[in-house]
Amino acid sequence: MSPRIDRLWPNPDADLDDEALLAAYAFPADQAWLRMNFVSSLDGAATREELSAGLGDEADHRVFDLLRRPAHAVLVAAGTARAEGYGAMRLDDASARWRESQGLAPHPVFALVTRSLHVDPTSPVFADAPVRPVVYTVASAPSERRAALEPVADVVVTGDESVDLRALRDDLAARGCTRIHSEGGPSFFGACLTAGIVDELCLTLAPTLEGGDAARIAGDTQSAPTSMRLASVLRARDELLLRYVRG
Ligand SMILES: NC(=O)c1ccc[n+]([C@@H]2O[C@H](COP(=O)([O-])OP(=O)(O)OC[C@H]3O[C@@H](n4cnc5c(N)ncnc54)[C@H](OP(=O)(O)O)[C@@H]3O)[C@@H](O)[C@H]2O)c1
Repeated sequence: MSPRIDRLWPNPDADLDDEALLAAYAFPADQAWLRMNFVSSLDGAATREELSAGLGDEADHRVFDLLRRPAHAVLVAAGTARAEGYGAMRLDDASARWRESQGLAPHPVFALVTRSLHVDPTSPVFADAPVRPVVYTVASAPSERRAALEPVADVVVTGDESVDLRALRDDLAARGCTRIHSEGGPSFFGACLTAGIVDELCLTLAPTLEGGDAARIAGDTQSAPTSMRLASVLRARDELLLRYVRG
């Protein structure tokens, strides 16, 4: 049984089904949009034992999966893909059917950001991909790694030492991917804030105090503080699922 999720604000509503959740997280129509999704403990930890999975509960996992559904592209930085052991970006049958009913391809494009190109071209991310992934990297990346990836992914070079994230966003838009859903991680979120390309943050506030020195959800950024505006508040037992858009 799906974990119960209620909406507290706006328009309070109880026990949202998947359609109601998808409506609550709908991308704006006719507008390019980049959404970030994170889970954090109450004291700001982005990981437990160096992974995010232990922080969220079933409700967070339910929303995590649903958020992929309406996306044209799922964008992930290489640190997170390596740490969390990403597989192919293949959605379940219900999600694929839902997407087709909305005129979308059955699966979103998987887009990976890496400076080092330290990714295995034989991994399921590429070998089992239902849609050819796109890898964004830099001119200084090792050419032999680039050559190894080119048979299994579109490799796009933007920037010398760091991926030009505005160019990345434009490149995805040129591929028809204007609804971008990013699953992080923190260093990448910081870089996206510096580039000024973040439109929305979906933040699960997990009811736990972790202590210690775990990373926060946003790493180093050269941008001034970015003010955000509260868009909605969902609740699953003691957990809050918050949506903020750029202020
Ligand atoms: N709490 C949450 O919701 C959440 C979400 C996601 C991840 N996490 C956790 O966060 C940790 C990973 O985060 P992280 O900050 O270490 O890594 P990250 O942000 O996922 O990835 C950093 C890596 O991405 C690439 N990268 C990022 N920005 C780039 C740019 N502008 N140009 C070129 N390459 C760029 C580089 O890859 P290369 O190293 O390949 O050059 C860089 O080392 C994991 O423990 C994961 O579990 C938590």
